[in-house]
Amino acid sequence: MPRCYLDNAATSWPKPECVLAAIDHYQRELGVAAGRGATRAAFEVDAVIARCRLRAAQVLGAESPERVIFTFNGTDSLNLALHGVLKPGDHVIASTLEHNSVNRPLSELRQRIGLQTTLIPPEANGRVEPARFRDALRPNTRLIALLHASNVTGVIQPIEDVGTIARNVGALMLVDAAQSAGHLPISLRELPVDLLAGSGHKGLLGPLGTGWLAIRAGVEDRVTSLRQGGTGSLSEDDHQPDRLPDKYESGNHNAPGLFGLEASLAWLQDRGLDVIRSHELSLRRLLLDQLAELPNVHTFCRDIRDEQAVGVISLTLAGFDPQELAAILDHDFDIQTRAGLHCAPGAHRSLGTFESGGTLRVSFSPFSTSDDVEHFVQSLRQIAGEVMWPAT
Ligand SMILES: Cc1ncc(COP(=O)(O)O)c(C=O)c1O
Repeated sequence: MPRCYLDNAATSWPKPECVLAAIDHYQRELGVAAGRGATRAAFEVDAVIARCRLRAAQVLGAESPERVIFTFNGTDSLNLALHGVLKPGDHVIASTLEHNSVNRPLSELRQRIGLQTTLIPPEANGRVEPARFRDALRPNTRLIALLHASNVTGVIQPIEDVGTIARNVGALMLVDAAQSAGHLPISLRELPVDLLAGSGHKGLLGPLGTGWLAIRAGVEDRVTSLRQGGTGSLSEDDHQPDRLPDKYESGNHNAPGLFGLEASLAWLQDRGLDVIRSHELSLRRLLLDQLAELPNVHTFCRDIRDEQAVGVISLTLAGFDPQELAAILDHDFDIQTRAGLHCAPGAHRSLGTFESGGTLRVSFSPFSTSDDVEHFVQSLRQIAGEVMWPAT
């Protein structure tokens, strides 16, 4: 059995072959900075990065390519949005399901500028109730932040309804799409969302070191730039350019990463997100059905409908600490999963797994197969059997 990688929610593996080839081509044959030179190699690098931006805008439904800002990961994108928008005296509403890449900037801003926050827990089914966001609104609510899909349970959140609530009072809506982009079709243009943030290295299948923030037209006037520096444009001016994407992209780009991301976006466009989604949901269903036969395994939010889930499943095995279980799966069965709190402590508080070491998480990509699921379930069965009936 080849390596069984089931930790795609952390970062996806393997990458499509074209991604490896694109990075190799950049590193071996080009190797120059983007936006900084007049050589043939520099023009090629500029053209690939422009194409990457165009493809990202198409995949995310952004209004135009320059509205996609390249960052270095999802965390970077969320920091840009939160620190760029929020000012002293502001109030923010977020869910308790958020990843620490939202929780920690909010904590920092609470301490540094006295930001007021209201955190809304999910209902028993793992989804937040939009009316609770409406009830939490204050005259100074500047922004609502909600993740699109939980990185712990895979449950999709009602971003449309919550976004409409934000829009009705003139607050900005920030959506963390780290676990949805690449796994299901999204269109910023068609959603009541102002800022859509995510990673390039998870569902979009690009390399680590890539991320993006898509900004609705006009919203850039409400988001200050966090970093200032060289952009390769308007170099005579001491001030950061106002135009996009330069306002937010100072310093050299991660050119090899963006070469890889351009290739992975092309691969995704060619394959089709609908096809990828139905593949990942069929694996989710297969895994849930098989796990239901293991009495010592508990899966979380298993009753959520397919349309409200991505291919991320959390479980516990009675008698095992999740970290210990993940280590056995890796060492004895070459299965890579992720154990613990998954940087989302609030999600574990609502599942009741915060005090007990979190959960074991399985997450799929387009390259995951039914053989992976079978191997995982068989391995779990074996591990559980060894505990229940130790060899005499
Ligand atoms: C829901 C969610 N948001 C944000 C992030 C941060 O993304 P990155 O690892 O690209 O910084 C993650 C990463 O796991 C995540 O799952």
